[in-house]
Amino acid sequence: MKLFNVAVDGPSGAGKSTISDVIAQKYHLIHLDTGSMYRAIALALHEQNVPASYNETFQQALDAIELSMDNGKVVVNGVDLTNKIREPHVSALASQYSALPQVRKKLVALQQQIASKQGYILDGRDICDVVLPDAKIKIYLDASVESRAKRRMLQDLEKGIQVPYSIVLKAIQDRDYADRTRKTDPLTISKQATVIDSSNLTFDETVAKIVDLIENTLKDE
Ligand code: DC
Repeated sequence: MKLFNVAVDGPSGAGKSTISDVIAQKYHLIHLDTGSMYRAIALALHEQNVPASYNETFQQALDAIELSMDNGKVVVNGVDLTNKIREPHVSALASQYSALPQVRKKLVALQQQIASKQGYILDGRDICDVVLPDAKIKIYLDASVESRAKRRMLQDLEKGIQVPYSIVLKAIQDRDYADRTRKTDPLTISKQATVIDSSNLTFDETVAKIVDLIENTLKDE
């Protein structure tokens, strides 16, 4: 089968990453979770006490960051941050640092370099129009804020983290607002994307819709 690229955008907690993993396996694609790259940069800068506001010191600290994404591991300057970037407080940090155009410039370039050949599925917020404008398949994976908060709460519980629903909901609403209103490459629904709303779908039903979309697109080749 000819290799192709898939772009997946959508808000926090819509299931982009887990679903992209399944699609990657089915079609032998490599999955790049671009959110994990923003998380890693945000965590590294935060831990160096470099706040999310642009100046010369910020640029120097950003330039000194070497990020590598190998075999599902997220490594910054030789330190494996794969687990740490999943801690709940890193979500808000990632949203703040990702609003800075200089951070986006560095990461978009790295993402485009990684996915310079066909055979990738990337998920994030700006993939369809900015990172992979030539992707064959473009998807906007949506879900109501309530269903995303419920799913996130259950995922946290599985990891032993107990956060009340109202707090999870508010954190997702705040992140939606920040990601949708930032000046550089905000989260929008690409005109070229197929919207799949998973609010009332099971995980398997959502995967099946995406598989249908891919099969139909490839069939028309
Ligand atoms: O997908 P995630 O929740 O791990 O992403 C963390 C943050 O990173 C998210 O709030 C916005 C930002 N992000 C982005 O701006 N662009 C992307 N392509 C991916 C994530």
